[in-house]
Formats: sequence, structure tokens, C-alpha cells
Amino acid sequence: MEGPASAGTYALVTEQMTALLEGCPGPIAAMASAAALLKDTFDHFSWVGFYLPEEDGSLTVGPYQGPLACIRLPAGKGVCGAAAASARTMVVPDVHAFPGHIACDARSRSEIVVPLVMDGRLLAVLDVDSHLPDAFGDADRKGLEAVATRLSRSWTR
Ligand code: SME
Repeated sequence: MEGPASAGTYALVTEQMTALLEGCPGPIAAMASAAALLKDTFDHFSWVGFYLPEEDGSLTVGPYQGPLACIRLPAGKGVCGAAAASARTMVVPDVHAFPGHIACDARSRSEIVVPLVMDGRLLAVLDVDSHLPDAFGDADRKGLEAVATRLSRSWTR
């Protein structure tokens, strides 16, 4: 879809996610479907995917769409590590200005990372990159948080 993300488009995406999650057999299928839906819907997303926490606090890549990405991210490092450690959404308008940003794709200019949390436990982080600077606005934050909440609620194993 062309143009900036709108709340209306996210409302449709969230509806589609709800439908997809009905009868979804587990988190891998759910994350893979979410990544495909988001990547195909928004032209300003260059990479969409999930990182999953390991016992030592590092993150391992999960289902994603886009160019090949880093497989492991060290504990607490980068935008994903910061979102995982704080369990808060991170919006980074200029990745070059973010200390410790991990550049899996040198073309990335901005990034948003939304944690998936259930009962205080970090399940995963949803990471979206863009080749455009300052690509993520309020609609993206709210919309991606709604997607993350739905995924967290349906997490079965
Ligand atoms: N840029 C991320 C690493 C993951 S890639 O964007 C897919 C970070 O700094 O955590």
C-alpha cells in the first residue's frame, strides 16, 4: 500500500490478524503470517520479523520477511535488545544516531521494535525496519502494538 501508514489500514490489518489467529496451531505459524501480512501491506517496511529470547538474554531470529538478517543479537544490545530489556516499544527515527544499533542491512534508516509480553514474560520482539528516515509515526506504533497484543494473547506454547 502506498503512502504513510494510516490508522484505518492498521484497523484492517488487526482484523485480518484476528481472523488468521483463529485456529492458528502455534506461535511460529502466527509470527510467519504476521510478518507476511505486514510486509505485504506497507511499502515503507523493508524488513519485518521477530526475535525470540534465549535464556542468556540474547535474541535469536524467528520468522521474517525481507533481506537476510542477523541470526543472533547479544543481550541488551541494539534496538531489539533495548526493547527486550525494557519491555517497551522503541521508535528510532535515525538508526545512525542510536548508540549500539546493529546494522543487519546497511540501507536501514529507521526502526521500530515492539515487545510481545504475556504475564510479565517476554515472548518475542516484533522488529520493523525501513529504508526511509523517520518512517514510523504514531499510527505505526499503535497499530504494531495492537498486532503484538493479539499475538501475545494467542501465544499457546
Ligand atoms: N537493527 C536491529 C537488529 C535487527 S535487524 O534490524 C533485522 C537492532 O539494532 O537491534
